[in-house]
Amino acid sequence: MFRSGALLVRQERIPLRGIRSAFRIVHLSDVHFSKATSFAQNEAVISAIVHRVRQCRQKGKIDLIAVTGDLVSRQPGLYGIPAALKLMALLRGIAPVVFSLGNHETDLPAGQRAELLNGLRDRGVLVLDNTGVNVSGSTFRGLTLPGDVYKGNYGYRGLRPITAGLVKRCIGQVTHPCVLLAHTPTGFPAYARWGADLVLSGHMHGGIVRVPGIGGILSPERKFFPVYDVGLYQERGSILSLTAGIGKFRICDPAEIVDLKLIPVRNSQQRRNCANVTIST
Ligand SMILES: [Fe+2]
Repeated sequence: MFRSGALLVRQERIPLRGIRSAFRIVHLSDVHFSKATSFAQNEAVISAIVHRVRQCRQKGKIDLIAVTGDLVSRQPGLYGIPAALKLMALLRGIAPVVFSLGNHETDLPAGQRAELLNGLRDRGVLVLDNTGVNVSGSTFRGLTLPGDVYKGNYGYRGLRPITAGLVKRCIGQVTHPCVLLAHTPTGFPAYARWGADLVLSGHMHGGIVRVPGIGGILSPERKFFPVYDVGLYQERGSILSLTAGIGKFRICDPAEIVDLKLIPVRNSQQRRNCANVTIST
């Protein structure tokens, strides 16, 4: 369970082809306000996140705050949606906010999903539900995948594969430079094939239990030793920045937000040298 004061800020610098100028994104994911979190716990989480994001702003302008889904759990309880809306309104007071849906928002009953998404829009948050927005010459697209890529009729077996074709059917053709907000990183090869320049994902909760030298142990789909757990990955010239997120049960797997600085580059050689990780507490 999240403890106040235990929220880390991980800083990354990512050289990215095609962007006009340096661009700073604060990325957070998987807060999971739920029926299992009390009003007081929700308030502690809100205050820790807002405190950390304000600390980030003190170091310089934040161009965009990106939230990649599972802000609430599929059973948000009495306090989950009000807590989510309060958090996002406070973040919107710091910088522009874009939001894409996770599997838990997809699973919400229609009335609760509308309450959340309309509430976010009312608070000035840009909801990217298979839609996009142009910011400083880059396109930000938010991918909402069908529920059966996460869980099917047979539980976690026989899930629908995420392909470039499925991404295109959901969200259309890529335009460059493109930052794709995609809740699950399991489709990264497909996102890269589709043409995303940078992908922001969460969902994996860092592998839930992390073992030094091994990494994350378990994915939400109950797969052991997931290929993607946390950090930076590259494929076909595309970069995935994956956060361990904030909420839910975790062991040796700190809750985090990611402070991303995108740096313009001209050639692919520079782009390959992307990892530069520091942790601030
Ligand atoms: Fe998720």
